[in-house]
Amino acid sequence: MAVYENASEITVEMMNLSDASARTVASKSHTDEDGTTVPGGKLLRCVAVSFCLLCFLQVALNISLRLALSPPPGIDASFKNLTEERDELRSINLRTEESCKTLTEERDELKRKLSYFASQQNSLTTERDGLKRKLNDFAHYSNQGWVYFSGSFYYISSIKETWQDSRDDCVRRGADLMIINSEEEQEFTRKYRQIMWIGLTDRETEGVWKWVDGTSLTTSFWHSGEPNSYEGTNEDYVAVNYHDYKNSWNDLECIIKNFWICEKNMTL
Ligand code: BGC
Ligand code: CA
Repeated sequence: MAVYENASEITVEMMNLSDASARTVASKSHTDEDGTTVPGGKLLRCVAVSFCLLCFLQVALNISLRLALSPPPGIDASFKNLTEERDELRSINLRTEESCKTLTEERDELKRKLSYFASQQNSLTTERDGLKRKLNDFAHYSNQGWVYFSGSFYYISSIKETWQDSRDDCVRRGADLMIINSEEEQEFTRKYRQIMWIGLTDRETEGVWKWVDGTSLTTSFWHSGEPNSYEGTNEDYVAVNYHDYKNSWNDLECIIKNFWICEKNMTL
């Protein structure tokens, strides 16, 4: 064993030792003169072969990827065709939608017109039927000797009856007892100079006078002191009575018999 005097000597010695051991390892990797490979050479060869294999695999992978991802021949052309077809179909669809919208609007307009004409036809039919009926009525009541005055036909009886029987007769003739709505009508009755039942009564409620069509009395032509249910009697029915006076009406009992005047209103 060597004895060292200082640190620099120790360092020199260690370097010498390293060189020596390196030489030993290197001598172990060399091929012997008879061709036998020492273990260090094998390792290098393995690394080189692996590297070559890896390169080969890389090339194969690149080729495969290129083949897999690149489109088959002719695909571009057919893609272009499909795109054109799609655009054409889109434009046809657009045109179809527009023409469909126009047709729908036209259909709705025609429907509106049809319904308008249907309702026009309906009201014209109703009007025509009404005019036909009126024409028939005019012919009928004229032929029966009724008098036409201010939109109505009038019939004056030639016999006397109670108020109710008189009314029944008017109804049988397609009319009712006369309703007086105006001064003209009131004047018309006075010309006949007869006591005649008219269609006014308070038989439902005492003192509440109503016309035979259910309407209330608004314009009245009561004679002075009427209506009075004279001397405790029950006078529920009205006759044009005092023809010398503008106000000619009188209330009378149900048992009284009078002439009567029927009215067929032609304006209804
Ligand atoms: C009266 C009337 C009454 C009639 C009955 C007349 O004298 O003035 O009010 O209705 O008699 O007949
Ligand atoms: Ca009276």
